[in-house]
Amino acid sequence: MAAYTWIDHTFDVVVLGAGGSGLRAALGAAQAGLKTACITKVFPTRSHTVAAQGGISASLGNMGEDKWQWHMYDTVKGSDWLGDQDAIEYLTRNAPAAVYELEHWGVPFSRTEEGKIYQRAFGGMTRNFGEAPVQRTCAAADRTGHAMLHTMYGQSLRHAVDFFIEFFALDLIMENGVCRGLTAWKLDDGTLHRFRAQTVVIATGGYGRAYLSCTGAHTQTGDGNAMVLRAGLPLQDMEFVQFHPTGIYGSGCLITEGARGEGGYLTNSNGERFMERYAPTVKDLAPRDMVSRAMAIEIREGRGVGPKKDHIHLHLDHLDPKMLHERLPGISESAKIFAGVDVTREPIPVLPTVHYNMGGIPTNYHGEVLTKVGDDPDAIVPGLMAVGEAACVSVHGANRLGSNSLIDLVVFGRAVGLRCAEKLTAGARQSDLPKDAGDSHLARFDRFRNAKGKLRTAELRTEMQVAMQETCAVYREGPTLQEGVERIEKVYSKIGDIAITDRTLVWNTDLAEAMEYDNLIAQAAVTVTGAANRTESRGAHAREDFPDRDDKDWMKHTLAWLDIPTGQVKIDFRPVHSNTMTNEIETIPPKKRVY
Ligand code: FUM
Repeated sequence: MAAYTWIDHTFDVVVLGAGGSGLRAALGAAQAGLKTACITKVFPTRSHTVAAQGGISASLGNMGEDKWQWHMYDTVKGSDWLGDQDAIEYLTRNAPAAVYELEHWGVPFSRTEEGKIYQRAFGGMTRNFGEAPVQRTCAAADRTGHAMLHTMYGQSLRHAVDFFIEFFALDLIMENGVCRGLTAWKLDDGTLHRFRAQTVVIATGGYGRAYLSCTGAHTQTGDGNAMVLRAGLPLQDMEFVQFHPTGIYGSGCLITEGARGEGGYLTNSNGERFMERYAPTVKDLAPRDMVSRAMAIEIREGRGVGPKKDHIHLHLDHLDPKMLHERLPGISESAKIFAGVDVTREPIPVLPTVHYNMGGIPTNYHGEVLTKVGDDPDAIVPGLMAVGEAACVSVHGANRLGSNSLIDLVVFGRAVGLRCAEKLTAGARQSDLPKDAGDSHLARFDRFRNAKGKLRTAELRTEMQVAMQETCAVYREGPTLQEGVERIEKVYSKIGDIAITDRTLVWNTDLAEAMEYDNLIAQAAVTVTGAANRTESRGAHAREDFPDRDDKDWMKHTLAWLDIPTGQVKIDFRPVHSNTMTNEIETIPPKKRVY
């Protein structure tokens, strides 16, 4: 192995990732006087939160009566009863304060005539426990994530968060089950860094790029999730992958659900508003899993649009062009660029597209990472926290409601900051890292850097993405899932034959892409294996061979560990927290989801 030297750093808190959750967590820790680093592989304002469009949910009640209890009910029901109800209570109770905090920091929300924060309707958000749609999603036109990210980056700088930008994380430093820090490669000068911290917070987002078509950035490779797997810890509920109903046909770019919230609707080749059949009360504003399934059925039964009858139309052409210009300018532009469509005149061709991972690193509602030790399903991993899409708190359970992600980022980002403030002492002495800390990370790094195999990363990545898309999509079935497990195992086994041609250390994108692919294939393995293992239908996991939800046997979280050398997945379970956080609200008992 080549000789490498570490540059060492010590912080109280190290946050990995600078999207909405990472920035909010880093900001909270820094506000508490803790010396805080934020490490990110892209410039903070390029993190994928920047692409979030439609808005952030909170029961502000600016557009009609609303209550956090209704928001909680909708979230539990949306999750198909796989969400942890204590965490959902924490989320929905704290949501209004989190949005007002953003407002006070400067997020330029759209406004009502009275100057209040504008709120739009989103799927599955209802008033009075499912009676009718409610306008709960606070919006900055259709660029809400962009507005939030820029505002929080500014606030983080104000509170002296120390940013390490364009640093590619390698692995967690674990000592006797305790997380002591992490290692990273600085992309622009090739140096290698070891960060020691009292607490590491993983905020690396989702792994949509394990699929061929997704609404996420190319950087969405779930690096933190894979680091957790390599640390010998489990990921939770990875079989639950959300397909957003309205990705632009062909490119996969997102058309916000806010388009339907503002009055848009879907039609099939007969011009029929088919959602009226599938969800008579809320129609096009049903939760995403249901709309995506309805679209898949329409296409499968020959009622898709276009020459191949393989997509669906989203209509905005009946809406006031002035309103479209004010509230949906971003998607109007995307539709023009990516589908050649003028939304004021023609429908947008759309197709369900991978958008969000409900699964991730198991945590409690303070953001502390959990694992199962013996009979304890909620054992805390000391020194390690996770937040945002990387985490599985689990507030979204089997299916996330639109606009519940941005609120998850800031509510639980804030919770992480509060927990760090409560548990850590600024500047507390940290023992020396073990002498060999990071050696195995360097060995892996060096192996990739000098790989002399025959297979380009792009070939392996495409093979994985096609396998995931073909076998583990909106509808799933035992034999196809088994085929998916085998195809992913086969791709996994080829990692030893990868070809890297650039041996340099500075801006070596060949090497970075290979390590991102290695992160993705680890998550693909636990995703497809978890899906094959779960013999029921719940939320986004729709099994044709097991069409019903099975609360008796399956109201439990999947935990999946990966044996890195072989790619074999081990599965176990954790109970769902059906208890609420306080006595002020009762558990919401499971029932059939009807909208
Ligand atoms: O449709 C959207 O604007 C996406 C929102 C979300 O995923 O929460």
